[in-house]
Amino acid sequence: MFSIDNRQSAIGNPEVRIFDGLEPLSWSAAARLEEQARVKALEKKPFSVALSGGSTPKMLYELLGSPTFAGRVRWPNVHLFQVDERCVPPDDPQSNYRMIRQALLETAPLPAENFHRMAAERPDREQAAREYAEELARVLHPAPAEWPRLDLVFLGMGPDGHTASLFPGSQALNERTAWVTPNFVARLNSFRLTLTLPVLNAAAHVIFLVAGVDKADTLRQVLEGPEGRFPAQLIQPTCGRLSWFLDESAAHLLKKE
Ligand code: 6PG
Repeated sequence: MFSIDNRQSAIGNPEVRIFDGLEPLSWSAAARLEEQARVKALEKKPFSVALSGGSTPKMLYELLGSPTFAGRVRWPNVHLFQVDERCVPPDDPQSNYRMIRQALLETAPLPAENFHRMAAERPDREQAAREYAEELARVLHPAPAEWPRLDLVFLGMGPDGHTASLFPGSQALNERTAWVTPNFVARLNSFRLTLTLPVLNAAAHVIFLVAGVDKADTLRQVLEGPEGRFPAQLIQPTCGRLSWFLDESAAHLLKKE
């Protein structure tokens, strides 16, 4: 039996849902995508989703790629983007694309042209970033001088409070004009390609998926502590919803309601 603890947190009042495990968390995230995809399909509008890498969303992607959701989501109407990517070839074990392909793309009836891969392996990272911004513009058609508006973004959070590839103290945190940017991550001594804060905050709905006891202390500080200390705290949709889907081990230090 899955229990859910729904609450509103201090910062800007995001939705916070606590699940007693990654499985109910992933099912609920999949159901949320299904719900929003249905609304867009009824409006005869494309539905755009940006996917993060890392380990936490893998179960969600496997669910979405499963027969259960094959028929429940109108996949030809869905466009999948990447939130960020490691600067490695697409078949590298570190590649977010590789994880998403194996977990979702190889089974979900999504038209191949509806998955928009970040070509982060390219030596000219600035050019790769510009081209990905053009891809966002081509599919999302933002008005002139507007940010592209994704319908749904799934984000994760690291124990250091990073999200997407926006790491504490990294340059991309200050990016306010580019939609996509390369980012050198000193701690990992490697580059990433990432959507920038303004693009993430222009989304209609951002859902953080956070699981694991190693995130608990940072999560408490992010949701209940002083603002502006962690990159994850800078995710404040300007005209959209913010949700935190947590498992109990990640949420165990949060104030009890
Ligand atoms: C990445 C991600 C990153 C991830 C966090 C959490 O490319 O690694 O996009 O931001 O969401 O590092 O990762 P886990 O889910 O593996 O804890």
